[in-house]
Amino acid sequence: MKSDCIDFYYFTGTGNTLLVVEKMAEIFKEGGKTVNLFRIEKSDPCEADTSHVIGIAFPVAVQSTFRFVWDFVRSLPDAKGSEVFMVDTMMMFSGAVVGPMRKVLRAKGYTTIGAREIKMPNSWYPSCLDEAKNRNRASRGLEEAEDYAVDLLDGKARWRRVPALSGAFYWMVSRPRIWSGMAGAARNYRVDPEACIQCGICAELCPVGNITSGGIPTFGDKCQQCMRCLAFCPPEAITREGKDYELYRAVKVQKILRRDVRTSGKTSAASAYEKKQPRP
Ligand SMILES: Cc1cc2nc3c(=O)[nH]c(=O)nc-3n(C[C@H](O)[C@H](O)[C@H](O)COP(=O)(O)O)c2cc1C
Repeated sequence: MKSDCIDFYYFTGTGNTLLVVEKMAEIFKEGGKTVNLFRIEKSDPCEADTSHVIGIAFPVAVQSTFRFVWDFVRSLPDAKGSEVFMVDTMMMFSGAVVGPMRKVLRAKGYTTIGAREIKMPNSWYPSCLDEAKNRNRASRGLEEAEDYAVDLLDGKARWRRVPALSGAFYWMVSRPRIWSGMAGAARNYRVDPEACIQCGICAELCPVGNITSGGIPTFGDKCQQCMRCLAFCPPEAITREGKDYELYRAVKVQKILRRDVRTSGKTSAASAYEKKQPRP
């Protein structure tokens, strides 16, 4: 890597990607790098520092990734050879992100130094949670993250060639109709008014500002199904009607809310959440 400073931008829905990012950051630091972690949903891509190495991490969604992640990548500043790497986490397979993202970044003038896709537990309405299996999967995923970070440090990582079909595949899965269908999910989100503690965490977690706070939450039509509001509602008051699933989360909500290096101290919703917890 040409720079000693890595700005690692990430989005995580239920925490898998955050675990991978933290593992990689640990290895980078051991390798003598300075690592800054930035939440994609809280960052202005135009302010990205192209004198640093840029890392981009996100979950796979619909064979690609969320539209707001793509918006972020597309809005990064033009570069003159700055190095960039990506890592995604997924349940099984993605056909429409590695190649297309390399194309976008190269067109902006970046040197694409590595891409890796790491299997982690499924976050998308898992029908049942097999905790032992998930633990196993996550620990293998983190080993892979470690190897990938070492490869990046050693200059051995690769961003594999654009597979012939991935551009066409990307075109298919990024159709507005698919994403407006995804947004429809929120029409079936229900809040149990008895259980809701009106802490506002769901609104703070939503990366696309689709949830109103200040009372019982209501949902707009911009949902991209990142799963955060369902997974991290403290009293689990938000459910999706008509769907049989178990809730998956890989980390605690405070970790997701506090992990932004641009945010000092606790976020207001995290503090509100703590205040609402019963005292031992
Ligand atoms: C809306 C949505 C769509 C998904 N689509 C895919 C997919 O196409 N392929 C796949 O392998 N995993 C898919 N997944 C699973 C996630 O990519 C995977 O569980 C990921 O590790 C979640 O990361 P996170 O915990 O950081 O959000 C999807 C998850 C969500 C929420």
